[in-house]
Amino acid sequence: MPILLFMSEADNADRWRDAMVEKLPGIEFRVWSADPAADETGDPAEIDYALVWKPRPGVLKGLVNLRAILSLGAGVDHLVTDPELPAHVPVVRLVDRCLTQGMSETVIYWVIHFHRKMGVYARFARDGIWKKMRQADAERLRVGILGLGELGGDAARKLVPLHYQVAGWSRRPKEIAGVACFHGDDQLIPFLNRTDILVCLLPLTPETAGIIDARTLAALPAGAHVVNCARGGHVVDEDLLAALDAGHIAGAALDVFHVEPLPADHPYWTHPKVEITPHVASLTVPHSAAEWMVRNIQRIEAGEPPFNTVDGARGY
Ligand code: NAP
Ligand code: GLV
Repeated sequence: MPILLFMSEADNADRWRDAMVEKLPGIEFRVWSADPAADETGDPAEIDYALVWKPRPGVLKGLVNLRAILSLGAGVDHLVTDPELPAHVPVVRLVDRCLTQGMSETVIYWVIHFHRKMGVYARFARDGIWKKMRQADAERLRVGILGLGELGGDAARKLVPLHYQVAGWSRRPKEIAGVACFHGDDQLIPFLNRTDILVCLLPLTPETAGIIDARTLAALPAGAHVVNCARGGHVVDEDLLAALDAGHIAGAALDVFHVEPLPADHPYWTHPKVEITPHVASLTVPHSAAEWMVRNIQRIEAGEPPFNTVDGARGY
């Protein structure tokens, strides 16, 4: 039976151990720790699979007989930036029902929040103001999703029955019923020109880093909103703050940041038009994610390629 090494500084190793052992009885589940007294790695050559979230750079190269590196999250930017990542070992990203559902819930929440001006009403209520604003018709509101993969595609499909005008942008052409699909660099600006609420669900790669900057924000219609549920590195903070202060962007919901936790003195904390959540747009739920992990481990053990292997050249 394979030996798994769990490498994450989050304190949920026991939940993962229970979930994995329940689904794959007989596996050996060891937990890496930076503290030598708590570290269960043992002989690194015995480890078959590494289950990882933000492992310290260089630490994976010592696991010389690894069969796969399984990311505990959908994004793999925390892995592909390790210059010593063993090149011959497949990196598998997480695709999971609960993760996808959770992200779509968050996206729908913020779209409705901005559409129905719930943030403005919350501020009115705090100040004891009874004031009604015009109600916008969902059919006239244009939502645009950067990234039409597992998460962006699901959110787009779920927004369609709510009657929004939904569009998405991806690298390659796509067809999704009810969604206007744009792709490639040439179609980015036309996509932004028709987007009132922009949602970012791209992976962080050299091509997508800083994609929400002065140029792209200026391409959004005046009064647009920005929702970033992907990575902080997608946004040029100074440009977003300038666009908010100028009134061109009416509000932003930010879940992810260049530095996490968001430093106490960051201007986002006190900006009246910025809503902050602490990287919780969708969290990995061990009992559900373990099913997909086990399915992939079983495939590899049977000599089949795992699902959702990262393409090293694309970086996602
Ligand atoms: P995915 O399935 O790999 O989808 C990525 C999408 O982005 C694809 O549609 C891809 O286009 C598109 N894309 C990539 N590079 C592009 C480029 N240069 N130009 C245009 N489109 C590009 O990824 P996913 O599972 O949906 O996850 C997306 C990201 O969400 C993750 O990488 C992670 O950073 C973030 N995330 C955040 C949280 C949170 O709690 N905040 C939770 C989970 C995930 P193609 O379809 O043409 O390949
Ligand atoms: C979370 O940020 C993930 O990538 O799953």
